[in-house]
Amino acid sequence: MVRTLVTGATGTLGMALRSRLRAAGHTVRAASRSPPDETDGDLDWVEFDVTEDTGIETALESVEVVIHAATAPQGDTAAVDVQGTKRLLEAAEEADVEHFLYPSIVGIDDIPFSYYNHKRTAETAVEESDVPATIVRATQFHSFVAEMLGYVAKLPVWPLPTNMQIQPIAAGEVADVIVDHTTLSASGRVGPIGGPEIHSVGELARAYRDARSLCRPVIRFPIPDKTVRAFRAGHATCPDHLVGTVTWAEWLAERHANGVGGTDSRAQSPM
Ligand SMILES: NC(=O)c1ccc[n+]([C@@H]2O[C@H](COP(=O)([O-])OP(=O)(O)OC[C@H]3O[C@@H](n4cnc5c(N)ncnc54)[C@H](OP(=O)(O)O)[C@@H]3O)[C@@H](O)[C@H]2O)c1
Repeated sequence: MVRTLVTGATGTLGMALRSRLRAAGHTVRAASRSPPDETDGDLDWVEFDVTEDTGIETALESVEVVIHAATAPQGDTAAVDVQGTKRLLEAAEEADVEHFLYPSIVGIDDIPFSYYNHKRTAETAVEESDVPATIVRATQFHSFVAEMLGYVAKLPVWPLPTNMQIQPIAAGEVADVIVDHTTLSASGRVGPIGGPEIHSVGELARAYRDARSLCRPVIRFPIPDKTVRAFRAGHATCPDHLVGTVTWAEWLAERHANGVGGTDSRAQSPM
């Protein structure tokens, strides 16, 4: 039985990982700043802040494998994703951790965006560390795309950079692949994981609008920006790695089956 720590355990990927790791026979420790919402009496949860020393030693105690899914895309990414990852790697080395798994994002070498720059720096720290590591890059999760589209949902018209290319994947399917790698042997940098279809943001937005029974025109709003241009050029996609099986349409149908949010990626389902 492998003893595995999941950081960012209350996030989208972290939650999907926890249930799958337990089903695969791991002893799971969960770590995050705030406790999980759900009441799970058996959950071994440690209060942990990767920007400080809070909880790091306790979280790593008797752990063989670390899956470092803590991230702060809308916060201080230098402090959390770069400095925090380096701090955790140092502590993991001290604690004789056997394998450090790092989820990352497809296309971060070619998309100029500060969060992605910080993810790349964190990947380098992971590769340069003495702790054996595996890095798994994935495309955008369905739930993330829905969250982004949610920001325009209340507007009467949706002005969007409709030509950006996205290959959304179910977070549960990313978790499945990471769990398969969660052994005592590291694999280095493994192949990227993408969803089953590549769509333009316009297509994703229209399907999202229809699934929510909203009547809003989606209009092209060109943004003259390097990040958008890189997404438009397809750098966030990996067409040779259509690993996921759950399509955007299927994910939307499941999520909006009763007119409200459904299971998201949090249950054991592939969603
Ligand atoms: N979302 C996507 O579309 C996507 C796509 C490809 C790869 N990824 C990668 O997958 C991983 C997980 O992403 P996600 O979308 O699941 O993240 P998420 O839902 O935003 O969750 C982030 C987690 O990090 C924790 N966290 C934030 N700041 C922290 C801190 N200072 N110390 C300790 N924990 C902290 C949060 O809990 P608290 O706030 O309670 O601490 C939460 O549990 C990341 O490496 C991300 O780059 C994501």
